[in-house]
Amino acid sequence: MFQPDLLKGKRILVTGGGTGLGKSMGRRFVELGAELLICGRREPVLKETAAELGRIGGRPVGTYAVDIRDPEAVDRLMDWAFAERPIDVLVNNAAGNFIAKTETLSPRAMDAVLGIVLHGTGYCTLAAGKRWIEAKHKGVVLSILASYAWTGSPYVVPSAMAKAGVLALTRSLAVEWGPKGIRTVAISPGPFPTKGAWERLVPASMAERWEKGGPMGRVGEHAELGNLASYLVSDMAAYINGDCVTIDGGRWLQGASMFSHLAGLTEDEWAAMRPKKG
Ligand code: HXC
Repeated sequence: MFQPDLLKGKRILVTGGGTGLGKSMGRRFVELGAELLICGRREPVLKETAAELGRIGGRPVGTYAVDIRDPEAVDRLMDWAFAERPIDVLVNNAAGNFIAKTETLSPRAMDAVLGIVLHGTGYCTLAAGKRWIEAKHKGVVLSILASYAWTGSPYVVPSAMAKAGVLALTRSLAVEWGPKGIRTVAISPGPFPTKGAWERLVPASMAERWEKGGPMGRVGEHAELGNLASYLVSDMAAYINGDCVTIDGGRWLQGASMFSHLAGLTEDEWAAMRPKKG
């Protein structure tokens, strides 16, 4: 579907790009010709991923170790990312999350998630946007959301608060920065198995039900996410601004729709409910 040079000439920075969804998106970006930069907290992990993706793309992948909760460190990250030439795309992928009963959370636990997802995303977006505006350079910000930005969700309340904020950032800046040539878009992925998310969010006793749930009866494939991200950051999507594409096989609608539980009815029960002829 894509031209092999779809992202040729695009310099793309992915936060949390060393592992998980960030790495999968990065892989597709380099396959499609992009110049990739990745940042994250763990230098050895970044280096390993950079070597792997560098081999696929046939050019070096830049790495920068940073905790995006620190705004001054984020500023230094962007100085580095923009040093050679401006980046064209920022992917706000870095996240932190765990399941817990909300009343058991300490303030530090709440801050840990909000600090990464809400503040960190804000710092990165601001630091890139300032530089783009000053250089009169076009840019794209792609942020990773979750369906609970709209619906809320028990047991991941700080993450839901933070993702709702990132949705507001995406919509707000679409209007404010659109005239400056900066698009802000988002993806809401359903379950795409990653070590980080599965360890923290999917209790072993519920893994099978979770993995086979949803209208499609399966989880997402990372390549599917990589393709969507590539399209949204590419010039093919130049008129998409301020919106979010959900890629979850319809799972969040199943959770939200009032009669989803009827999927459990037997054929006999359906037949019994039909009006009798005559
Ligand atoms: C209760 C917890 C906890 C848990 C940590 N804390 N885990 N409280 N239940 N399971 C508390 C700690 O006790 C501490 O508070 C505070 O949170 C900070 O913990 P630290 O370990 O010191 O913080 P830090 O090392 O910065 O780790 C941040 C983190 C961690 C968010 C807690 O999980 C992390 O680094 N995650 C990054 C990767 C990740 O989460 N990936 C999944 C993203 S998936 P006290 O008061 O005790 O000091 C996602 C979307 C999912 O976002 C959508 C699925 C469909």
